[in-house]
Amino acid sequence: MKVLGIESSCDETGVALVEFAGMSVPRLLAQALHSQISMHQAYGGVVPELASRDHIRRVLPLTREVLGRAGLAISEVDVIAYTQGPGLAGALLVGAGVAVAMAAALNKPTLPVHHLEGHLLSPFLSDDPPEFPFIALLVSGGHTQLMLVRDVGQYEILGETIDDAAGEAFDKSAKLLGLPYPGGPHLAELAQSGDPTAFDLPRPMLHSGKPDFSFSGLKTAVLTQVRRFGEVPTAQQRADLAASTQAAIVDVLVRKSLLALKNSGLKCLVVAGGVGANRCLREQLNSACAKRNVRVHYPELSLCTDNGAMIAMAAAMRLQRGAPALPPGGGFQVKPRWPL
Ligand code: KG4
Ligand code: ZN
Repeated sequence: MKVLGIESSCDETGVALVEFAGMSVPRLLAQALHSQISMHQAYGGVVPELASRDHIRRVLPLTREVLGRAGLAISEVDVIAYTQGPGLAGALLVGAGVAVAMAAALNKPTLPVHHLEGHLLSPFLSDDPPEFPFIALLVSGGHTQLMLVRDVGQYEILGETIDDAAGEAFDKSAKLLGLPYPGGPHLAELAQSGDPTAFDLPRPMLHSGKPDFSFSGLKTAVLTQVRRFGEVPTAQQRADLAASTQAAIVDVLVRKSLLALKNSGLKCLVVAGGVGANRCLREQLNSACAKRNVRVHYPELSLCTDNGAMIAMAAAMRLQRGAPALPPGGGFQVKPRWPL
């Protein structure tokens, strides 16, 4: 069975094809991605209307590219999956509209997919896929959650952020440091030449005993520090603050993940979402988990941020477990706000 996946929830247009037989882990046949980052950079953040228009321009050429790479005709695709939410309404409508229209023209069924389920299952695209059950740390630009994952569709939320997401904390702090959008990777790069102990930044809820998070206080602390620097901070001051900010975010993420693992008794951790690309987070999780005999799985670096492969993968894994695809010719709706 071949599944085409289309992702258009925010600032990346992603298309991919996966194939599976029986219950074996689905295999990625081809993928293509267009990032709008350079387009939005001039505005310091995602401009929803520009995002939607760009998805319109990209989605069909990317689909052709993917089919070409896989050496398949569109008629050989069995199911067309798309991100139904959460995300920007206009951006989601592009992917959903194209997927449903193509499916109607080809007389193929569709499968709407939850964007976060895509992130969550993206480590199954790696060479060393995890096994159920596991604890998942989902850290993206809009979400920060710890989950107990028993199987596809069986998700128990153990804890989540009560305010900003981890990616948001990276992005907002980066902006205060004058770094371009999206701030996370830029802050991580600047942090490499800084001292993570230079500033004692808050780690809210660290000792709450619950796997919940709060990051909004961090950006206030970063702002206070930036103001103390005066008009022109030195390169070292900026690097030190970046390193200290990253250390505070990573520290909380690592400790809460360990708490969730300990409470559940599970020995497998899956990290997914854009912040999962952070090297400092990976190093600290790897060393903490190695000491506790816990295996950690990440998506390939290129599949941490939004992409079509994770959507095709999530759809394929749901189909394997009997999820019904929707018949062609029906209507569709998107869900900009949609808890997992
Ligand atoms: O999962 P994602 O692509 O989009 C959402 O679904 O939100 O995550 C994007 C987030 C952004 O906040 C970005 O700054 C952050 O992931 N990010 C990083 C890194 N790469 C991406 N944060 C820290 N370090 C990185 N290397
Ligand atoms: Zn995402």
